[in-house]
Amino acid sequence: MKQFTSVYDVENIDELLKTALEIKANPFAQQEVGKNKTIGLIFFNPSLRTRLSSIKAAYNLGANAWVLNAGADSWTLEMADGAVMNGDSQEHIKEAIQVMSAYCDVLGVRTFPKLVDRDEDYNEIMFNKVKELSSVPVVSLESATLHPLQSFADLITIAEKVNYNPIEKPAKKVKVVMTWAPHPRRLPQAVPNSFAQWFSKVDWVDFTVVQPKGYELDPKFTEGATISYDQDEALKDADFVYAKNWSSYENYGQANEGDKDWEVTMDKMNLTNNGKFMHCLPVRRNVVVSDEVLDSDHSIVIDEATNRIYSAQTVFHEILKNK
Ligand code: CP
Repeated sequence: MKQFTSVYDVENIDELLKTALEIKANPFAQQEVGKNKTIGLIFFNPSLRTRLSSIKAAYNLGANAWVLNAGADSWTLEMADGAVMNGDSQEHIKEAIQVMSAYCDVLGVRTFPKLVDRDEDYNEIMFNKVKELSSVPVVSLESATLHPLQSFADLITIAEKVNYNPIEKPAKKVKVVMTWAPHPRRLPQAVPNSFAQWFSKVDWVDFTVVQPKGYELDPKFTEGATISYDQDEALKDADFVYAKNWSSYENYGQANEGDKDWEVTMDKMNLTNNGKFMHCLPVRRNVVVSDEVLDSDHSIVIDEATNRIYSAQTVFHEILKNK
């Protein structure tokens, strides 16, 4: 693997999943791969899971890790080409990324969308700038439009719960429903775009996306999925319910704050096939999902967060093994 920025950097999803399950079963067995290697992690936005699981993944592989909160821990960075830097910015991203990539063998980067200009966000201006300037392979720790390490962890989690076996795939397709859920703030589309991009490609999954009208994702990510606007109908017989808020793609960045009816409650979970509840976290309790669901045996959110270690470890392993 040369980089990890989307599912398209994965040659074979089944093979990557198999490797992840092997790594999880024996997480310290590949320490030669990370020996004398350094993973650099740059965050332009906050994180709990991605930061800590990536550090843990590096240590499991026998590698070192450093973390930089860009702007907060470093000089204030200038992003604009040709800028006359006589204001607050002290260092240009051109030097900063070249220097940081000289200090590591793999560079993980988190950027977020501004949710103002769709073209700017969907062209991944910031993330691509880092990628172009880096002298080492880049791993997405979430970009403006995608969060592939999260989606891979979600796939590992579902595979574990259905006792996935790559030789003998599930006889009946596993029904996975990604449902829009309420939230008081405008959120990016990165997690749902990425989840849809991955799960539309998993041949043992029957994948549905359900959302209010006007909240459809960019169709390039949901191609092959069943699209629904009726949450109760979509949740019927679901094996997995993946809840997430996202702002509108069509009316770019617009939020639908008040739709309390879309909260995932126990009544909704009772429509499923004793389904498991999933969320990438952080989650707003009693807004996105009720306490009753999150504190019940339906919830597998901690399994997902735990598997963030193994998704990152597998990706770092695949990049470092040929270096
Ligand atoms: N799910 C996730 O990426 O969590 P963090 O934003 O805390 O890293």
